[in-house]
Amino acid sequence: MNATIGEKPDNLSGMLLEWYDTNRRILPWREDPSPYHVWISEIMLQQTRVEAVRDYYTRFLEVLPTIGSLAEADEDLCTKLWQGLGYYSRVRNLRRAAIMIMNEYGGAMPQTSAELRKLPGIGRYTAAAIASICYNERIPAIDGNLLRVYARMTGYDQDIRSGAAREAALGFYEELFPYERYGDFNQALMDLGACVCLPNGAPHCEDCPWEDHCRARSDGTCQQLPVVLPKAKRRVENRTVFLIYYQDRLILRRRPDEGLLAGLYEYPNTDGVLNKTEAASYLHSLGFSAFCLRSLPEAKHVFTHIEWKMTGWEVLADRWETSDPENPHAQELFPATASDLREIYSIPSAFSGYTKLISPDLLK
Ligand code: ADE
Repeated sequence: MNATIGEKPDNLSGMLLEWYDTNRRILPWREDPSPYHVWISEIMLQQTRVEAVRDYYTRFLEVLPTIGSLAEADEDLCTKLWQGLGYYSRVRNLRRAAIMIMNEYGGAMPQTSAELRKLPGIGRYTAAAIASICYNERIPAIDGNLLRVYARMTGYDQDIRSGAAREAALGFYEELFPYERYGDFNQALMDLGACVCLPNGAPHCEDCPWEDHCRARSDGTCQQLPVVLPKAKRRVENRTVFLIYYQDRLILRRRPDEGLLAGLYEYPNTDGVLNKTEAASYLHSLGFSAFCLRSLPEAKHVFTHIEWKMTGWEVLADRWETSDPENPHAQELFPATASDLREIYSIPSAFSGYTKLISPDLLK
């Protein structure tokens, strides 16, 4: 052990590819790595684990098997297929990019990372992953796995989330790249990071093809590396959510086209923690004039930068009259049936604490 630390032997990449050939994960998008398939999988895998993605991936391609079908698909269908994966701007960008590919690239994915990055939703990492896997471009796809492996291999002890760490890792991998099989090399690093060089101080070093060449392994610093500095604190926002039943329907609303959960559907909700009197007055402003109110449990949802602390009211409404012209939110409300909820409207998982409380008996 430790014979070649700091020397980076020529065959490090060969060792890793050999390891990959016997240990690679069998993943659906690897079996048929067309650019469309790899693109969809890479977008789904951003911030979501491989196991959670498998079924979504299969279903998405069953319904939308080609770039052309995605470009023509209704936006609500796309979000429905995405429901549960979160970060809905990803699927909106997928569809926008598919439309661009059909209109501006003759229906074929661009073949270089530089061109791919011109498409909405495709950043440095995704462009590099698609270009290396599908077009064998010699470019490292730096994700959290590659950063962690880099930090441990070299003993990098600065904040791994910084731009400087990314640049340093890029230089390290560029030098290490094999003479061919660039896509496999990137995927081997991803698998190494996901299955062997595990985060939170729990790596399986004995299974690692680079065990004898790893600085953290020889220094005994696997537990300390990579160094992850805490992120800025999330802003906490209080909201009050309403499950309003009216004539066997549930009242929904579409969110604005910009901002958090853009364009998705939601239960009417508003800022703050509303008590019974305040809740009633909010309902009046939405046009409901005869109802009974029942308090629902609290729920929370953590986004990247915000945390919602929610309180809720169940509302059985008898009268819904012309909505208040002064209240723009009232204009957007509409009633949905149980099957509309199942098949058409995606309610983001941010509201799952209330979705699970919907009473099927009150809906047709
Ligand atoms: N994570 C993101 N993309 C991946 C891929 N192609 N293989 C394994 N893990 C991944």
